[in-house]
Amino acid sequence: MISRILRGREPRHVRSRARTALVAATVGSFVAAGLVATAGTADAQSTLGAAASAQGRYFGAAVANNRLGESDYVNTLNREFNSVTAENEMKWDALEPSRNSFSFGSADRIVDHARGQGMSVRGHTLVWHSQLPGWVGSLSGDQVRSAMNNHITTVMQHWRGQIHSWDVVNEAFEENGSRRNSVFQRELGNGYIEEAFRTARAADSSAKLCYNDYNTDGQNAKSDAVYEMVRDFKSRGVPIDCVGFQSHFNSNSPVPSDYRQNLQRFAALGVDVQITELDIEGSGTAQANSYRSVVETCLAVSRCTGITVWGVTDKYSWRSAGTPLLFDGNYNKKPAYDAVLSALGGSGGGNGGGGGGGGGNASCTVSYEQTDRWDDRFNGRVTVRAGGSAISGWSTTVTVQSPQKISATWNGSPTWDSSGDVMTMRPNGNASISAGGTTSFGFTVMANGNWSAPTLGSCTAS
Ligand code: G3I
Repeated sequence: MISRILRGREPRHVRSRARTALVAATVGSFVAAGLVATAGTADAQSTLGAAASAQGRYFGAAVANNRLGESDYVNTLNREFNSVTAENEMKWDALEPSRNSFSFGSADRIVDHARGQGMSVRGHTLVWHSQLPGWVGSLSGDQVRSAMNNHITTVMQHWRGQIHSWDVVNEAFEENGSRRNSVFQRELGNGYIEEAFRTARAADSSAKLCYNDYNTDGQNAKSDAVYEMVRDFKSRGVPIDCVGFQSHFNSNSPVPSDYRQNLQRFAALGVDVQITELDIEGSGTAQANSYRSVVETCLAVSRCTGITVWGVTDKYSWRSAGTPLLFDGNYNKKPAYDAVLSALGGSGGGNGGGGGGGGGNASCTVSYEQTDRWDDRFNGRVTVRAGGSAISGWSTTVTVQSPQKISATWNGSPTWDSSGDVMTMRPNGNASISAGGTTSFGFTVMANGNWSAPTLGSCTAS
Protein backbone atom coordinates (compact mmCIF):
# COMPACT_ATOMS: atom_id res chain seq x y z
CA MET A 1 0.00 0.00 0.00
CA ILE A 2 1.33 3.45 -0.85
CA SER A 3 1.37 5.39 2.38
CA ARG A 4 2.84 8.61 1.22
CA ILE A 5 3.02 10.37 -2.10
CA LEU A 6 5.94 12.66 -2.62
CA ARG A 7 6.63 15.07 -5.43
CA GLY A 8 5.55 14.01 -8.82
CA ARG A 9 2.98 11.64 -10.13
CA GLU A 10 1.62 8.60 -8.50
CA PRO A 11 2.27 5.44 -10.50
CA ARG A 12 -0.55 4.66 -12.88
CA HIS A 13 -1.42 1.56 -11.04
CA VAL A 14 -0.35 0.44 -7.65
CA ARG A 15 0.43 -3.22 -7.56
CA SER A 16 -0.41 -5.43 -4.65
CA ARG A 17 2.33 -7.14 -2.76
CA ALA A 18 1.27 -10.45 -4.29
CA ARG A 19 1.47 -9.03 -7.78
CA THR A 20 4.86 -7.55 -7.06
CA ALA A 21 6.06 -10.86 -5.73
CA LEU A 22 4.75 -12.61 -8.82
CA VAL A 23 6.51 -10.19 -11.11
CA ALA A 24 9.69 -10.49 -9.11
CA ALA A 25 9.57 -14.26 -9.35
CA THR A 26 8.70 -14.25 -13.04
CA VAL A 27 11.55 -12.01 -13.97
CA GLY A 28 13.93 -13.40 -11.40
CA SER A 29 16.95 -13.36 -13.65
CA PHE A 30 16.38 -9.76 -14.68
CA VAL A 31 15.84 -8.74 -11.10
CA ALA A 32 19.15 -10.29 -10.20
CA ALA A 33 20.91 -8.11 -12.71
CA GLY A 34 19.51 -5.04 -10.96
CA LEU A 35 20.69 -5.91 -7.50
CA VAL A 36 22.64 -3.43 -5.51
CA ALA A 37 23.59 -3.97 -1.96
CA THR A 38 24.92 -2.71 1.24
CA ALA A 39 27.59 -0.10 1.44
CA GLY A 40 30.05 -1.18 4.07
CA THR A 41 33.01 0.07 6.00
CA ALA A 42 36.08 -2.07 6.41
CA ASP A 43 35.77 -2.78 10.11
CA ALA A 44 36.58 -6.16 11.61
CA GLN A 45 33.32 -7.88 10.71
CA SER A 46 32.17 -6.19 7.56
CA THR A 47 33.63 -8.76 5.18
CA LEU A 48 32.96 -12.46 4.73
CA GLY A 49 36.47 -13.48 5.68
CA ALA A 50 36.60 -11.33 8.81
CA ALA A 51 33.16 -12.39 9.97
CA ALA A 52 33.94 -16.08 9.35
CA SER A 53 37.26 -15.71 11.10
CA ALA A 54 35.50 -14.33 14.17
CA GLN A 55 33.52 -17.60 14.13
CA GLY A 56 36.69 -19.67 13.85
CA ARG A 57 36.06 -20.52 10.19
CA TYR A 58 37.56 -19.59 6.85
CA PHE A 59 35.51 -18.20 3.97
CA GLY A 60 37.06 -18.91 0.60
CA ALA A 61 36.45 -18.61 -3.11
CA ALA A 62 37.50 -20.61 -6.13
CA VAL A 63 39.58 -18.39 -8.39
CA ALA A 64 40.89 -18.53 -11.92
CA ASN A 65 44.41 -17.43 -12.70
CA ASN A 66 43.35 -15.71 -15.91
CA ARG A 67 41.04 -13.34 -13.97
CA LEU A 68 43.73 -12.05 -11.63
CA GLY A 69 44.44 -9.17 -14.01
CA GLU A 70 40.89 -7.80 -13.63
CA SER A 71 40.88 -5.14 -10.93
CA ASP A 72 37.25 -5.54 -9.77
CA TYR A 73 37.77 -9.28 -9.53
CA VAL A 74 40.96 -8.96 -7.53
CA ASN A 75 39.65 -6.17 -5.31
CA THR A 76 36.56 -8.20 -4.43
CA LEU A 77 38.64 -11.31 -3.81
CA ASN A 78 41.16 -9.48 -1.65
CA ARG A 79 38.56 -7.61 0.35
CA GLU A 80 36.12 -10.41 1.10
CA PHE A 81 37.83 -13.79 1.22
CA ASN A 82 40.52 -15.35 3.38
CA SER A 83 40.98 -18.68 1.60
CA VAL A 84 41.45 -19.51 -2.04
CA THR A 85 40.98 -22.63 -4.19
CA ALA A 86 42.28 -22.87 -7.73
CA GLU A 87 39.20 -23.60 -9.84
CA ASN A 88 41.14 -25.58 -12.47
CA GLU A 89 44.86 -24.85 -12.16
CA MET A 90 45.75 -27.61 -9.66
CA LYS A 91 44.01 -30.38 -11.57
CA TRP A 92 46.09 -33.18 -13.06
CA ASP A 93 45.78 -32.02 -16.68
CA ALA A 94 47.02 -28.56 -15.73
CA LEU A 95 49.91 -29.68 -13.51
CA GLU A 96 51.23 -32.76 -15.30
CA PRO A 97 50.08 -32.60 -18.92
CA SER A 98 52.67 -35.19 -19.94
CA ARG A 99 54.22 -37.86 -17.78
CA ASN A 100 56.54 -36.51 -15.10
CA SER A 101 56.65 -33.11 -16.76
CA PHE A 102 55.12 -30.64 -14.36
CA SER A 103 53.80 -27.19 -15.10
CA PHE A 104 53.19 -25.19 -11.92
CA GLY A 105 53.12 -21.63 -13.33
CA SER A 106 49.39 -20.82 -13.28
CA ALA A 107 48.77 -22.45 -9.93
CA ASP A 108 51.86 -20.81 -8.45
CA ARG A 109 50.46 -17.46 -9.43
CA ILE A 110 47.27 -18.17 -7.48
CA VAL A 111 49.15 -19.45 -4.45
CA ASP A 112 51.52 -16.48 -4.48
CA HIS A 113 48.64 -14.05 -4.77
CA ALA A 114 46.78 -15.69 -1.90
CA ARG A 115 49.78 -15.85 0.38
CA GLY A 116 50.69 -12.27 -0.44
CA GLN A 117 47.24 -11.27 0.80
CA GLY A 118 47.47 -13.41 3.93
CA MET A 119 44.88 -15.87 2.60
CA SER A 120 45.18 -19.61 3.07
CA VAL A 121 44.94 -22.06 0.19
CA ARG A 122 42.81 -25.20 -0.35
CA GLY A 123 44.29 -27.70 -2.78
CA HIS A 124 41.96 -29.11 -5.43
CA THR A 125 42.50 -31.89 -6.50
CA LEU A 126 45.03 -34.75 -6.71
CA VAL A 127 43.20 -37.89 -7.89
CA TRP A 128 40.09 -37.38 -10.01
CA HIS A 129 38.70 -39.15 -13.07
CA SER A 130 37.99 -35.83 -14.81
CA GLN A 131 40.42 -33.30 -16.24
CA LEU A 132 42.88 -36.15 -16.40
CA PRO A 133 45.42 -36.00 -19.23
CA GLY A 134 45.10 -38.71 -21.88
CA TRP A 135 48.38 -40.37 -21.03
CA VAL A 136 47.09 -41.55 -17.64
CA GLY A 137 44.17 -43.34 -19.25
CA SER A 138 46.47 -45.42 -21.39
CA LEU A 139 48.46 -46.82 -18.46
CA SER A 140 47.76 -50.14 -16.81
CA GLY A 141 48.32 -51.85 -13.49
CA ASP A 142 51.38 -50.73 -11.57
CA GLN A 143 52.02 -47.98 -14.10
CA VAL A 144 48.85 -46.30 -12.83
CA ARG A 145 50.02 -46.83 -9.25
CA SER A 146 53.39 -45.23 -9.81
CA ALA A 147 51.90 -42.38 -11.86
CA MET A 148 49.33 -41.67 -9.11
CA ASN A 149 51.85 -41.76 -6.30
CA ASN A 150 54.38 -39.69 -8.24
CA HIS A 151 51.72 -37.09 -9.04
CA ILE A 152 50.57 -36.82 -5.43
CA THR A 153 54.10 -36.66 -4.07
CA THR A 154 55.47 -34.16 -6.56
CA VAL A 155 52.50 -31.81 -6.33
CA MET A 156 52.19 -31.86 -2.57
CA GLN A 157 55.90 -31.41 -2.04
CA HIS A 158 55.92 -28.43 -4.41
CA TRP A 159 53.61 -26.55 -2.02
CA ARG A 160 54.57 -28.34 1.18
CA GLY A 161 53.45 -26.32 4.19
CA GLN A 162 51.46 -23.85 2.07
CA ILE A 163 48.13 -25.64 1.63
CA HIS A 164 45.75 -25.99 4.57
CA SER A 165 43.68 -28.84 3.09
CA TRP A 166 44.00 -31.02 0.00
CA ASP A 167 41.23 -32.80 -1.85
CA VAL A 168 43.26 -36.00 -2.17
CA VAL A 169 40.54 -37.98 -3.95
CA ASN A 170 37.58 -36.36 -5.68
CA GLU A 171 34.24 -37.83 -6.79
CA ALA A 172 35.12 -41.53 -6.53
CA PHE A 173 31.57 -42.77 -5.95
CA GLU A 174 28.48 -43.15 -8.12
CA GLU A 175 25.05 -42.03 -6.97
CA ASN A 176 24.10 -45.57 -5.90
CA GLY A 177 27.15 -45.84 -3.66
CA SER A 178 29.21 -48.03 -5.95
CA ARG A 179 32.71 -47.03 -6.97
CA ARG A 180 33.05 -44.89 -10.07
CA ASN A 181 34.65 -46.81 -12.93
CA SER A 182 37.77 -44.64 -13.30
CA VAL A 183 41.17 -45.75 -14.54
CA PHE A 184 42.29 -45.83 -10.89
CA GLN A 185 39.40 -48.08 -9.85
CA ARG A 186 39.80 -50.37 -12.86
CA GLU A 187 43.54 -50.80 -12.63
CA LEU A 188 44.13 -50.63 -8.87
CA GLY A 189 40.86 -51.78 -7.33
CA ASN A 190 39.20 -50.51 -4.15
CA GLY A 191 42.52 -49.95 -2.38
CA TYR A 192 43.56 -46.98 -4.51
CA ILE A 193 41.85 -44.39 -2.30
CA GLU A 194 43.61 -45.65 0.81
CA GLU A 195 46.91 -45.71 -1.04
CA ALA A 196 46.41 -42.14 -2.25
CA PHE A 197 45.79 -40.92 1.30
CA ARG A 198 48.83 -42.73 2.68
CA THR A 199 51.02 -41.28 -0.07
CA ALA A 200 49.60 -37.82 0.59
CA ARG A 201 50.36 -37.96 4.30
CA ALA A 202 53.97 -38.87 3.57
CA ALA A 203 54.29 -36.03 1.05
CA ASP A 204 53.07 -33.18 3.29
CA SER A 205 52.16 -34.02 6.86
CA SER A 206 51.05 -30.41 7.51
CA ALA A 207 48.08 -30.54 5.13
CA LYS A 208 44.67 -31.83 6.12
CA LEU A 209 43.71 -34.64 3.79
CA CYS A 210 40.13 -34.57 2.48
CA TYR A 211 37.83 -36.77 0.46
CA ASN A 212 35.56 -34.48 -1.65
CA ASP A 213 32.32 -35.20 -3.50
CA TYR A 214 28.99 -33.81 -4.75
CA ASN A 215 25.43 -34.97 -3.98
CA THR A 216 26.68 -36.18 -0.63
CA ASP A 217 25.29 -33.16 1.25
CA GLY A 218 22.28 -35.06 2.60
CA GLN A 219 22.06 -38.67 3.65
CA ASN A 220 21.65 -40.96 0.64
CA ALA A 221 23.24 -44.04 -0.91
CA LYS A 222 26.28 -42.08 -2.06
CA SER A 223 26.95 -40.30 1.22
CA ASP A 224 26.35 -43.58 3.04
CA ALA A 225 29.11 -45.16 0.98
CA VAL A 226 31.50 -42.29 1.69
CA TYR A 227 30.56 -42.47 5.37
CA GLU A 228 31.37 -46.17 5.46
CA MET A 229 34.74 -45.54 3.80
CA VAL A 230 35.64 -42.82 6.30
CA ARG A 231 34.50 -44.98 9.22
CA ASP A 232 36.66 -47.80 7.92
CA PHE A 233 39.68 -45.50 7.39
CA LYS A 234 39.41 -44.08 10.89
CA SER A 235 39.07 -47.52 12.44
CA ARG A 236 42.19 -48.78 10.63
CA GLY A 237 44.33 -45.67 11.00
CA VAL A 238 44.30 -44.72 7.32
CA PRO A 239 45.13 -40.99 7.32
CA ILE A 240 42.06 -38.92 6.54
CA ASP A 241 41.32 -35.59 8.23
CA CYS A 242 38.34 -34.09 6.47
CA VAL A 243 35.43 -34.61 4.14
CA GLY A 244 34.47 -31.98 1.58
CA PHE A 245 30.83 -31.46 0.67
CA GLN A 246 30.72 -29.64 -2.66
CA SER A 247 27.21 -28.25 -2.15
CA HIS A 248 26.25 -27.29 -5.70
CA PHE A 249 22.56 -26.50 -5.26
CA ASN A 250 19.69 -25.55 -7.55
CA SER A 251 15.95 -26.18 -7.75
CA ASN A 252 16.48 -29.82 -8.71
CA SER A 253 19.00 -30.29 -5.97
CA PRO A 254 18.10 -27.91 -3.13
CA VAL A 255 19.80 -27.60 0.23
CA PRO A 256 18.78 -30.90 1.87
CA SER A 257 16.71 -30.81 5.03
CA ASP A 258 19.12 -33.21 6.75
CA TYR A 259 22.25 -31.28 5.75
CA ARG A 260 23.25 -30.57 9.34
CA GLN A 261 22.60 -34.09 10.55
CA ASN A 262 24.61 -35.47 7.65
CA LEU A 263 27.62 -33.21 8.29
CA GLN A 264 27.32 -33.98 11.98
CA ARG A 265 27.46 -37.75 11.48
CA PHE A 266 30.70 -37.39 9.53
CA ALA A 267 32.14 -35.06 12.16
CA ALA A 268 31.27 -37.65 14.79
CA LEU A 269 33.65 -40.05 13.03
CA GLY A 270 36.49 -37.72 14.00
CA VAL A 271 37.03 -35.76 10.78
CA ASP A 272 36.57 -32.10 9.96
CA VAL A 273 33.91 -31.23 7.44
CA GLN A 274 34.22 -28.43 4.90
CA ILE A 275 31.78 -26.93 2.42
CA THR A 276 34.02 -26.85 -0.58
CA GLU A 277 32.29 -25.66 -3.77
CA LEU A 278 29.18 -23.85 -2.64
CA ASP A 279 26.93 -22.25 -5.21
CA ILE A 280 23.15 -21.96 -5.28
CA GLU A 281 21.29 -21.09 -8.46
CA GLY A 282 18.54 -18.49 -8.12
CA SER A 283 18.13 -14.87 -7.13
CA GLY A 284 16.75 -12.50 -4.53
CA THR A 285 15.29 -13.60 -1.25
CA ALA A 286 14.95 -17.29 -2.07
CA GLN A 287 18.61 -17.56 -2.95
CA ALA A 288 19.56 -15.52 0.11
CA ASN A 289 17.57 -17.80 2.38
CA SER A 290 19.27 -20.89 0.98
CA TYR A 291 22.70 -19.36 1.46
CA ARG A 292 21.78 -18.38 5.00
CA SER A 293 20.77 -21.92 5.85
CA VAL A 294 24.06 -23.28 4.52
CA VAL A 295 26.07 -20.88 6.68
CA GLU A 296 23.91 -21.63 9.71
CA THR A 297 24.49 -25.33 9.10
CA CYS A 298 28.24 -24.93 9.07
CA LEU A 299 28.16 -22.81 12.22
CA ALA A 300 25.99 -25.42 13.95
CA VAL A 301 28.56 -28.16 13.36
CA SER A 302 31.63 -27.43 15.43
CA ARG A 303 33.92 -29.43 13.12
CA CYS A 304 32.76 -27.52 10.04
CA THR A 305 35.93 -25.53 9.58
CA GLY A 306 35.10 -23.40 6.57
CA ILE A 307 33.14 -22.61 3.45
CA THR A 308 34.37 -22.06 -0.09
CA VAL A 309 32.09 -20.58 -2.74
CA TRP A 310 32.74 -21.81 -6.27
CA GLY A 311 33.71 -18.47 -7.79
CA VAL A 312 33.78 -14.76 -7.05
CA THR A 313 31.21 -13.39 -9.49
CA ASP A 314 28.21 -14.78 -11.37
CA LYS A 315 29.90 -13.59 -14.54
CA TYR A 316 32.57 -16.31 -14.43
CA SER A 317 30.66 -19.09 -12.69
CA TRP A 318 30.64 -22.52 -14.34
CA ARG A 319 26.86 -22.11 -14.00
CA SER A 320 26.76 -18.48 -14.98
CA ALA A 321 23.20 -18.56 -16.32
CA GLY A 322 22.00 -19.66 -12.89
CA THR A 323 23.56 -16.61 -11.17
CA PRO A 324 24.62 -18.83 -8.26
CA LEU A 325 27.20 -16.70 -6.44
CA LEU A 326 27.36 -13.84 -3.91
CA PHE A 327 28.41 -11.05 -6.30
CA ASP A 328 26.61 -10.24 -9.52
CA GLY A 329 28.36 -9.69 -12.84
CA ASN A 330 29.19 -6.10 -11.85
CA TYR A 331 30.59 -7.18 -8.49
CA ASN A 332 27.61 -5.78 -6.61
CA LYS A 333 26.80 -7.60 -3.39
CA LYS A 334 23.60 -9.62 -3.78
CA PRO A 335 20.97 -10.31 -1.11
CA ALA A 336 22.69 -13.67 -0.76
CA TYR A 337 25.85 -11.82 0.27
CA ASP A 338 23.99 -9.91 2.97
CA ALA A 339 22.42 -13.13 4.19
CA VAL A 340 25.80 -14.85 4.44
CA LEU A 341 27.46 -11.91 6.16
CA SER A 342 24.60 -11.57 8.62
CA ALA A 343 24.52 -15.32 9.35
CA LEU A 344 28.25 -15.12 10.07
CA GLY A 345 27.49 -12.42 12.64
CA GLY A 346 28.95 -9.69 10.45
CA SER A 347 27.48 -6.37 9.55
CA GLY A 348 27.34 -4.40 6.35
CA GLY A 349 28.96 -1.42 8.01
CA GLY A 350 26.12 -0.15 10.16
CA ASN A 351 28.30 -0.18 13.23
CA GLY A 352 31.15 1.62 11.59
CA GLY A 353 29.98 5.19 11.72
CA GLY A 354 26.94 7.29 11.29
CA GLY A 355 26.27 7.55 15.00
CA GLY A 356 22.91 6.67 16.17
CA GLY A 357 22.58 3.12 17.13
CA GLY A 358 22.63 2.74 20.86
CA GLY A 359 21.71 -0.84 21.41
CA GLY A 360 24.82 -2.84 22.22
CA ASN A 361 25.03 -5.48 19.48
CA ALA A 362 22.25 -3.91 17.43
CA SER A 363 23.13 -4.12 13.76
CA CYS A 364 21.40 -4.41 10.43
CA THR A 365 22.14 -4.74 6.74
CA VAL A 366 20.23 -3.55 3.71
CA SER A 367 19.87 -4.85 0.19
CA TYR A 368 18.04 -3.59 -2.85
CA GLU A 369 16.20 -5.15 -5.73
CA GLN A 370 14.12 -3.75 -8.55
CA THR A 371 10.66 -5.28 -8.39
CA ASP A 372 8.86 -3.70 -11.30
CA ARG A 373 9.44 -1.49 -14.31
CA TRP A 374 7.28 0.58 -16.64
CA ASP A 375 8.11 2.85 -19.58
CA ASP A 376 8.87 5.83 -17.37
CA ARG A 377 9.64 4.49 -13.90
CA PHE A 378 10.52 1.52 -11.75
CA ASN A 379 9.78 0.25 -8.27
CA GLY A 380 12.48 -0.75 -5.84
CA ARG A 381 12.37 -2.69 -2.62
CA VAL A 382 14.90 -2.43 0.19
CA THR A 383 15.10 -5.33 2.61
CA VAL A 384 16.33 -4.46 6.08
CA ARG A 385 17.75 -7.41 7.98
CA ALA A 386 18.64 -7.41 11.67
CA GLY A 387 22.00 -8.91 12.66
CA GLY A 388 22.47 -11.44 15.43
CA SER A 389 20.34 -9.44 17.94
CA ALA A 390 16.79 -8.12 17.75
CA ILE A 391 16.57 -4.41 16.94
CA SER A 392 13.95 -1.78 17.75
CA GLY A 393 14.85 0.82 15.15
CA TRP A 394 16.71 1.25 11.89
CA SER A 395 17.51 3.79 9.23
CA THR A 396 19.27 3.84 5.90
CA THR A 397 19.68 6.13 2.92
CA VAL A 398 18.64 5.65 -0.69
CA THR A 399 20.38 7.88 -3.22
CA VAL A 400 19.05 8.34 -6.73
CA GLN A 401 20.88 9.96 -9.62
CA SER A 402 19.55 13.23 -10.97
CA PRO A 403 17.36 13.60 -13.01
CA GLN A 404 15.74 10.61 -11.33
CA LYS A 405 13.10 11.47 -8.73
CA ILE A 406 11.47 9.30 -6.09
CA SER A 407 7.74 9.82 -6.52
CA ALA A 408 6.27 7.53 -3.88
CA THR A 409 7.27 5.41 -0.92
CA TRP A 410 5.59 2.76 1.21
CA ASN A 411 6.27 0.96 4.50
CA GLY A 412 8.65 3.65 5.72
CA SER A 413 8.95 7.30 6.85
CA PRO A 414 11.24 9.26 4.53
CA THR A 415 13.07 12.55 4.99
CA TRP A 416 15.10 14.28 2.28
CA ASP A 417 18.32 16.20 1.89
CA SER A 418 18.33 19.59 0.20
CA SER A 419 19.14 18.16 -3.24
CA GLY A 420 16.18 15.82 -3.07
CA ASP A 421 18.39 12.99 -4.27
CA VAL A 422 19.14 11.41 -0.88
CA MET A 423 16.25 9.90 1.01
CA THR A 424 16.73 8.78 4.60
CA MET A 425 14.23 6.07 5.40
CA ARG A 426 13.09 5.23 8.93
CA PRO A 427 10.42 2.78 10.12
CA ASN A 428 6.70 3.33 9.84
CA GLY A 429 5.24 0.74 12.19
CA ASN A 430 7.97 -1.76 11.31
CA ALA A 431 10.76 -0.66 13.66
CA SER A 432 11.14 -3.94 15.56
CA ILE A 433 12.88 -6.82 13.83
CA SER A 434 13.82 -10.09 15.50
CA ALA A 435 17.40 -11.38 15.30
CA GLY A 436 18.11 -12.28 11.68
CA GLY A 437 14.58 -11.19 10.67
CA THR A 438 13.63 -8.72 7.97
CA THR A 439 11.30 -5.95 7.03
CA SER A 440 11.18 -4.02 3.79
CA PHE A 441 10.14 -0.71 2.33
CA GLY A 442 9.50 0.29 -1.23
CA PHE A 443 9.55 3.29 -3.52
CA THR A 444 8.94 4.38 -7.07
CA VAL A 445 11.66 6.12 -9.06
CA MET A 446 10.73 8.30 -12.03
CA ALA A 447 13.61 7.47 -14.35
CA ASN A 448 13.61 10.63 -16.48
CA GLY A 449 15.87 8.75 -18.86
CA ASN A 450 18.26 7.36 -16.23
CA TRP A 451 17.68 3.71 -15.35
CA SER A 452 20.55 3.32 -12.89
CA ALA A 453 19.80 1.48 -9.70
CA PRO A 454 19.81 3.64 -6.57
CA THR A 455 22.63 3.20 -4.10
CA LEU A 456 22.13 2.38 -0.44
CA GLY A 457 23.96 3.78 2.53
CA SER A 458 24.84 1.62 5.47
CA CYS A 459 22.11 0.50 7.85
CA THR A 460 22.05 1.97 11.34
CA ALA A 461 20.27 -0.05 14.02
CA SER A 462 19.13 0.79 17.52
O1 G3I B 1 41.01 -23.19 -20.65
C1 G3I B 1 40.32 -23.75 -21.76
C2 G3I B 1 40.32 -22.82 -22.94
O2 G3I B 1 41.64 -22.63 -23.36
C3 G3I B 1 39.46 -23.42 -24.05
O3 G3I B 1 39.37 -22.52 -25.11
C4 G3I B 1 38.07 -23.71 -23.54
C5 G3I B 1 37.19 -24.38 -24.59
O4 G3I B 1 36.26 -25.24 -24.05
O5 G3I B 1 38.17 -24.58 -22.43
C6 G3I B 1 38.90 -24.03 -21.34
O6 G3I B 1 38.92 -24.96 -20.30
C7 G3I B 1 37.72 -25.10 -19.56
C8 G3I B 1 38.03 -24.89 -18.11
O7 G3I B 1 36.88 -25.13 -17.33
C9 G3I B 1 38.52 -23.47 -17.83
O8 G3I B 1 37.52 -22.56 -18.12
C10 G3I B 1 37.16 -26.48 -19.80
O9 G3I B 1 36.74 -26.64 -21.14
C11 G3I B 1 36.01 -26.73 -18.87
O10 G3I B 1 35.61 -28.11 -18.97
C12 G3I B 1 36.43 -26.48 -17.45
O11 G3I B 1 35.31 -26.64 -16.61
C13 G3I B 1 35.61 -26.81 -15.25
C14 G3I B 1 35.01 -28.12 -14.76
O12 G3I B 1 35.27 -28.25 -13.37
C15 G3I B 1 35.63 -29.32 -15.46
O13 G3I B 1 35.13 -30.49 -14.95
C16 G3I B 1 34.99 -25.66 -14.48
O14 G3I B 1 35.66 -24.44 -14.83
C17 G3I B 1 35.14 -25.90 -12.98
O15 G3I B 1 34.37 -24.95 -12.27
C18 G3I B 1 34.59 -27.28 -12.62
O16 G3I B 1 34.81 -27.49 -11.25
C19 G3I B 1 34.31 -28.73 -10.75
C20 G3I B 1 35.21 -29.15 -9.62
O17 G3I B 1 36.54 -29.20 -10.04
C21 G3I B 1 34.78 -30.49 -9.05
N1 G3I B 1 33.39 -30.47 -8.66
C22 G3I B 1 32.47 -30.00 -9.69
C23 G3I B 1 32.89 -28.64 -10.21
C24 G3I B 1 31.88 -28.11 -11.17
O18 G3I B 1 31.82 -28.89 -12.35
